[in-house]
Parts: sequence; structure tokens; C-alpha cells
Amino acid sequence: MLRHPGPAPDARHDEPVHVVRGVSIVAPTFREASNIPTLVARVAAAMKDHETEWELILTDDDSGDGSEAIATALGQRLPVRIHVRRNCHPDLSQAVLEGIRLARFDRLVVMDADLSHPPEQVPDLLAVLDDDTDMAVGSRYAPGGRIEGVWSRYRALNSRLATLLARPLTRCSDPMSGFFALKRGRLPDPRSLDPVGYKIGLELMVRGRFRVREVAIRFDERRHGASKLNWRRQLAFLRHLLRLYLFRFELPVRVLSFGAVGATGLVVDTAFYLGLQWVGLEHLLARFLSFWPAVTWNWSLNRALTFRDRPPAAEAAQWARFVISSLIGLATNVGSYVLLTGMVDFFARNRLLALLAGVVIGSAGNYATATRFVYLERQPRRNGH
Ligand code: GDD
Ligand code: MN
Repeated sequence: MLRHPGPAPDARHDEPVHVVRGVSIVAPTFREASNIPTLVARVAAAMKDHETEWELILTDDDSGDGSEAIATALGQRLPVRIHVRRNCHPDLSQAVLEGIRLARFDRLVVMDADLSHPPEQVPDLLAVLDDDTDMAVGSRYAPGGRIEGVWSRYRALNSRLATLLARPLTRCSDPMSGFFALKRGRLPDPRSLDPVGYKIGLELMVRGRFRVREVAIRFDERRHGASKLNWRRQLAFLRHLLRLYLFRFELPVRVLSFGAVGATGLVVDTAFYLGLQWVGLEHLLARFLSFWPAVTWNWSLNRALTFRDRPPAAEAAQWARFVISSLIGLATNVGSYVLLTGMVDFFARNRLLALLAGVVIGSAGNYATATRFVYLERQPRRNGH
């Protein structure tokens, strides 16, 4: 597993010591014993004429089907090793990250072990990794790419749909691809990666902000063993997509959410303002009192929705900061109105527009303070230790 920063965040002893010129091929395996010998033979043949050192790392999730013995035997005469992750939840993405962590060379290739990705095309991927390309993706959907073998209508539709959903995140025609090459030097900090499930390539593309080039590939249907794709993985994929959307479109998503919360807050504010007068309170007092349930409502919804990914802070203190931020927003709102109507002729004639402008400016101020001072990104470091 990639370790999270422990008590001493600067201890980076788990980083590979040597980064040598060459190619590390990482293939995650789960019950692929019947495919490993062919995979190794074809990778070795493909790399033979490629003038560079290479290694093949299989990261296995404790398949228990003899994979380990087979790979270890092959490792006697070829640069092949198998790393078995024991006692952990099987996870394709984590297995790939683990393989990347163990890799010795400066260029990395990730591919399936079931021979869906032709090892003969590894050099094609490596060939397009140049100064302007961080990642070469083997694409089934690029011109010239194809899928060999029969895909059920369901699987084909599924793959197309998943691809469509991921399209806004990247320009790659096959963002689902698990066959890609990249430069180790361009890898994002592994601690910034948070993949769930299958699509480690997509995770890297989006979070690494990679410049991607595509290589058309032939995708062969597996001959042996079974696919591990199931509905649970598809659900995980949707969760993964949501996270990546939030990452990629963070600002617009947050602003939209903040605005929507603000609108519901206005409803709460109005309801209390009217309700309190209805029970007999004087209008100024009602106005003063209705602010509090509304601001509390906004605070808790923004905590639960808009900034749900921020670490939870102590409630009372955060609420107080939100109140201050809202008051700043209110002051900016009213202040803008006063300035605009007082100094700009146009707004003096169109006061309703000045009011709207004030709301927009005030909300922006409110958002800016909320994101910086209310829903803090990290807990402030405690003194002492
Ligand atoms: N270590 C480990 N742990 N390996 C796994 C796991 C796991 O939990 N699940 C699957 N693998 C390995 C398989 O052994 C295989 O080598 C590779 O990951 C792909 O798994 P498949 O089960 O064959 O996946 P698929 O054929 O449905 O999915 C393929 O197509 C997708 C695009 O449609 C893969 O190529 C994906 O990478 C690709 O995104
Ligand atoms: Mn497969």
C-alpha cells in the first residue's frame, strides 16, 4: 500500500532509491495463472529488440492459484518478478500503484495481464512518450484501434457509456484504458491520488493533468480466466467519476452549490421574518432574529454539501466564523449598493440592478471568506507536537 504520511511526513524512505533509464512494465494480476506464461513470453519477445533495460512486475492480490510459483520460476531467467499483496482488500488501482512504487526504471507501462493488451504494442506506446507527452494511452477508439472477439451488446454499451461519462474530464478517446505508458518524473505525488476501483489510468490523467497522446491499439478479448468486472465495480466507478468531476471542476461546482444553499437560506430567512411578525413581533426585531436560523441553515448545508470534502472542524467555532463571513458578505452587499447608487448614474436610475449587483458582489465576498477562513482545507497544526 502507498503509505500515508505518518508522524514524520518528511520520511520518504519508501521512494525508490534508483531511477535508472529503462522500462518497468506493471501488470496487476488476480487469478491469471493461466495467462502469465504467455504474457511473460510475449513481453520478453516484444522488448528484445527494444534497446533498453526492462522489467515486468506483476502485482498480485493473493490469487492463490499458483501465480506466484509460475512467475517466480519465470523470474529465474527473465527480468520478471511478482509482488503479492497479502491480507488486503483486492483492488486493481492500488495494485497498480504498488507496482509503480516498486518499479526501478524511469518509464512505466501499465497493462492488463489477461493478454487483452497486446505486449507487442508496448514499444508503440513508448515511442510517443516525448518531451511534450507525459502519458501515452493505448486507445481502442482512436482511428485504427479495434476490439477483437465478440463483446456482448451489454458490455459494448457499458463501455461506451462509461467512456461518454468520462469525456468531459479528458480529451482522450479511451479514458477507460488500462494500457498506458508514462514518465515516472511526471507522476503526481502518490498521496494526492485517491482512486477507487478500476480506473487508475483515468485517475492519473485527470489528477496528474497529463499531456496525453493516444496510440491506436487492438484489444483482444481474454482467452483464459474470467473478467473481474461486476456491478459493484461499476458503482465504484461512478463514485470515482464524481470525485474526479469535483476535482476537475472544483470551482464551478462549489460556487453553484454555495449559490443554491444561499437561495434556500433566503427562503428560511423570509419564512422566519414573516412568521415572527405573524406571531406579533415588530418588523425590525423580526428582521434581526430571522438572520440567525438562516445563517445556521446555510452554515450546516455548506458544511454537509459544498465543503463536504474539507476536514470537519469543531462546530461552534466554525459556525462563529461563518457568521462573521456572512456579516462581511452582508456589509459588502449593502456597501456595494450604497456606492453604486451614490456614484454611478446608471445604478442611481436602476436601483434594482444595484441591489442585484450588491447581492452578487456580497455573495462572492461571502464565498471567498468561506472557502478560506470557514471551511478550512487542513486543520491548523496544534502546538506542542
Ligand atoms: N491485483 C489485482 N487486484 N489485479 C486485478 C484485480 C484486483 O482486484 N482485478 C482485476 N485485476 C487484473 C486482472 O487480473 C487483469 O490483469 C486486469 O486487472 C484487468 O482485469 P479484467 O477483469 O480482465 O478487466 P476487464 O477486462 O473487465 O477490464 C478491462 O477493460 C477496461 C476497459 O474496458 C481492463 O483493461 C481495464 O484496465 C480497462 O479499463
Ligand atoms: Mn480483461
